[in-house]
Amino acid sequence: MARASAVALPDVSSPGDGLTRPLRYSYNLPLVPRAPRELPVTPASNTTVPHSIGLGLRRSLVEEWRDLEQQGYGNQPRPEFIEVTPENWMGLGGKFRRNLAYFTERYPVYAHGLSLSIGGPTELDMAFVDRLKTFLDDCGVIEFSEHLSYCTDHGHLYDLMPIPFTEAAVQRVCERILRVQDRLKRQIALENVSFYAMPAPEMTEAEFICAVLERADCKLLLDINNVWVNSVNHGYDPKAFIEAMPGARVAYQHIAGHLQISDRQIIDTHGTDVSDPVWDLLAHAQATLGPRPTVLERDGNFPPLSSLLGELAEMGHILNGTARGTPGDAPAEITV
Ligand SMILES: [Fe+2]
Repeated sequence: MARASAVALPDVSSPGDGLTRPLRYSYNLPLVPRAPRELPVTPASNTTVPHSIGLGLRRSLVEEWRDLEQQGYGNQPRPEFIEVTPENWMGLGGKFRRNLAYFTERYPVYAHGLSLSIGGPTELDMAFVDRLKTFLDDCGVIEFSEHLSYCTDHGHLYDLMPIPFTEAAVQRVCERILRVQDRLKRQIALENVSFYAMPAPEMTEAEFICAVLERADCKLLLDINNVWVNSVNHGYDPKAFIEAMPGARVAYQHIAGHLQISDRQIIDTHGTDVSDPVWDLLAHAQATLGPRPTVLERDGNFPPLSSLLGELAEMGHILNGTARGTPGDAPAEITV
């Protein structure tokens, strides 16, 4: 984690001890004046959201998904929105462009970026942000999210690195989020990421996330699987973590599968079915925060699409508070 020092860190203090400590930082000094800004093109979290179960559009799913779209879904639920990764589609023509258009013409679109590197030690790539804005506008994207992490250091690292949970990092990340939001002319949502080391923490993960959301006036993409993975790997209460999140800022949620190595170690893979503890935690989030649009992320070891639709049915039952384990009924419209 030597790269973390590039974020201008103070000296190491004691490690975080979960969610038991009170907030130690005062947020009396906002980074910018809270004058009204021209932001939301996107719906606010307290408005009616006409879709609740979403599926990540992956290139490897396109052919089978399009066949299903043409043949009908039978007794399985049709996804109510899609989530796309801009970097996988931006600037592509030919069949890639046609495939993307096929789905964006039929579904509400959320977008989840990979390479913004909001916590990175090097300068933001604002030319990339401009291209991103064009993509988001062209696709009519409702919500755009990125990872509260970094992935560059004078070049792409091709991984999501943890931002140190420090006051200096909060300040730096918030400045960068505000710049991006102003350029995109929209609020963005930042995702709580899975991580395997906690470089020089001055505060807990929950305190860090809450500070960033408040001071940058941005939204949260709450990844339920990441909460579970981190809670096992770092030994904290995942339900208390969710209860500590500011509900009004939760734009939407992710769930995914992971690889359990041992009782105390999980690798975040997105390559397996969603596990029972993650379903249970989604139910807790639903009870605590209310239903939110939720995306099933699957990035490898793909099963038949029918298997993913079965997981969407399970998700719908949880979000609607109906009986689980009886796939087939698409959930009704929700209001959050
Ligand atoms: Fe995620």
